[in-house]
Amino acid sequence: MCCAFFGLECKVYMVKISFNQKPYRRLMMQTWGAQCVASPSSETNAGRSILEKDPESPGSLGMAISEAVEEAVNTDGAKYALGSVLNHVMLHQTVNGLETQKQMDIAGDYPDVVIGCSGGGSNFAGNCTVYVRDKIHGKEIDIIGVEPSSCPTMTKGPFAYDFGDTVQMTPLLPMHTLGHNFVPAPIHAGGLRYHGMAPIISQLLMDKLIRAEAVNQIETFEAGVIFARTEGFISAPECNHAIAMAIREAKKAKEEGKEKVILFNWSGHGLVDMAAYQAYFEGRLKDHPLPEEEIKRALEDIAPLPKPKQYQASGFE
Ligand SMILES: Cc1ncc(COP(=O)(O)O)c(C=O)c1O
Repeated sequence: MCCAFFGLECKVYMVKISFNQKPYRRLMMQTWGAQCVASPSSETNAGRSILEKDPESPGSLGMAISEAVEEAVNTDGAKYALGSVLNHVMLHQTVNGLETQKQMDIAGDYPDVVIGCSGGGSNFAGNCTVYVRDKIHGKEIDIIGVEPSSCPTMTKGPFAYDFGDTVQMTPLLPMHTLGHNFVPAPIHAGGLRYHGMAPIISQLLMDKLIRAEAVNQIETFEAGVIFARTEGFISAPECNHAIAMAIREAKKAKEEGKEKVILFNWSGHGLVDMAAYQAYFEGRLKDHPLPEEEIKRALEDIAPLPKPKQYQASGFE
């Protein structure tokens, strides 16, 4: 959309499983003028090498990043833009947090709990870091990043240096990671299927200023349906993770007999994700908690890389 407004050409490498599961998201991009390619594709060396090993690869955000970076590097006049993970993206999304603080002021309230779903970390960081500042200055706030149990980067991944992409083209980032070769189960919250996490979110976790929780896919859809029936809005599968956690926290407060103000970031509508709701209503969705062997494999990915001072091999369980 921005490219259309500024008269720029745009090419999007979209994870193949999302390209197929979410045709309307890609059609929206096409409507605004972007060329959308299912990744891994045969258009880049990175894509071809991945397809050679696994022609049926569903793709991953790490693979799509490899392809986009390769094309940007090899094309005169092309620039690469990432929508999450890197700290500068977190910074400009703080406009959301600054706005929710104003909204809370208007409501004459202040949150006890701040929640956001976390894929690469941008919508969560954008909303929560302004509250982290208040927490550092003494406010008592519970700040929770929510991820899928099938891609438990923050709750199970070690804090280590890793590449942001599969083919190891990016600089190393200090972050919680499941390894740059990790390919998560094909859950519908495609935006939460990233192997790493924004460095600033990873560091705030290490410093215990925020915490992380993982939820199963079916619980997130149950939450999304409750939200739709009570609030009217149909939420994206990613966003349903934040809603599920808000419901958990509300129930916990009720059990404890406490009144709590719970703020969560509504990261997007689900009107182009109705196929996911259909799969849920037809009982076709599954939970995919990550087996422990996968964590061991992640550790193999990062074994040859340098380790940050605060390296933790075992994650946060
Ligand atoms: C609706 C929605 N919410 C959340 C996310 C997660 O991204 P991030 O963690 O960068 O906010 C995505 C990513 O595609 C998304 O589409």
